[in-house]
Amino acid sequence: MSDASPARPQKFTVPRFLAAKEKNQKITMLTAYDYLSAKILDDAGLDCLLVGDTLGMVVQGKSTTLPVTVDEMIYHGEMVCRAVQRALVIVDMPFMSFHISPAQALENAGRILKETGADAVKLEGGVNQAKTIEAIAAADIPVMAHLGLKPQSVRAIGSMGKIQRDEDQLIADALAAERAGAFGILLEMITAPIARKITETVTVPTIGIGSGSGCDGQVLVTPDMLGMNADFHPRFLKKYANFAADMKTAVQTYASEVREGTFPDASHSHS
Ligand code: KIV
Repeated sequence: MSDASPARPQKFTVPRFLAAKEKNQKITMLTAYDYLSAKILDDAGLDCLLVGDTLGMVVQGKSTTLPVTVDEMIYHGEMVCRAVQRALVIVDMPFMSFHISPAQALENAGRILKETGADAVKLEGGVNQAKTIEAIAAADIPVMAHLGLKPQSVRAIGSMGKIQRDEDQLIADALAAERAGAFGILLEMITAPIARKITETVTVPTIGIGSGSGCDGQVLVTPDMLGMNADFHPRFLKKYANFAADMKTAVQTYASEVREGTFPDASHSHS
């Protein structure tokens, strides 16, 4: 008897993520926060899904990522992992979940991996978090560093969205993260030439957002690239759909059909 169930797609593992750079294959990543969207993104063949702490803004409607907790990351991470068959799932370590000590960071990274089923964690920092990255990587928990614009530092830097141009510091951060054992480096809002230089300097893959085309891969925040936030159009963002307008039209059509009594009709009723 033949097994009729479709073959499970080959998992995009950390070794495959690393090999992609050697093979010059661009790595595709988007954020995910819930089961159904994660299933669609995984079915679409994305390499990586990031359960980003941007969920504080795009899911919870807060003005920064600072209030997001480890429990909330685990809540969303677990839903995403349940949906995913192929993609590498990375879960963000939220503000103050890794800043106190490497031991605190290791404990929270371990909780995230154990309780969500994710493949890796990500944290904001380079030179300043090298010991923490080292502690997490030493426990065989794959950890990605996030450099350039670090949204969790918004109170210190005063604003979001500023292009990062301090080449020496950015290269030092990238090298420190790589030396400490980071398996990848996310580069946010860095000038395209510096991001390209970092990508050529480190051996691990870089994933860019607002950092030009010279990175090894690309990430966007899914609700942003789907056009769910009609008022958000930074230069780096390309909108691949217009979900806000499409959703409003669908909801308005539904509401007027209900008001007019044309929905539900016979074809949507049981006799
Ligand atoms: O939290 C997040 O969604 C991020 C983005 C920069 C991709 O880190």
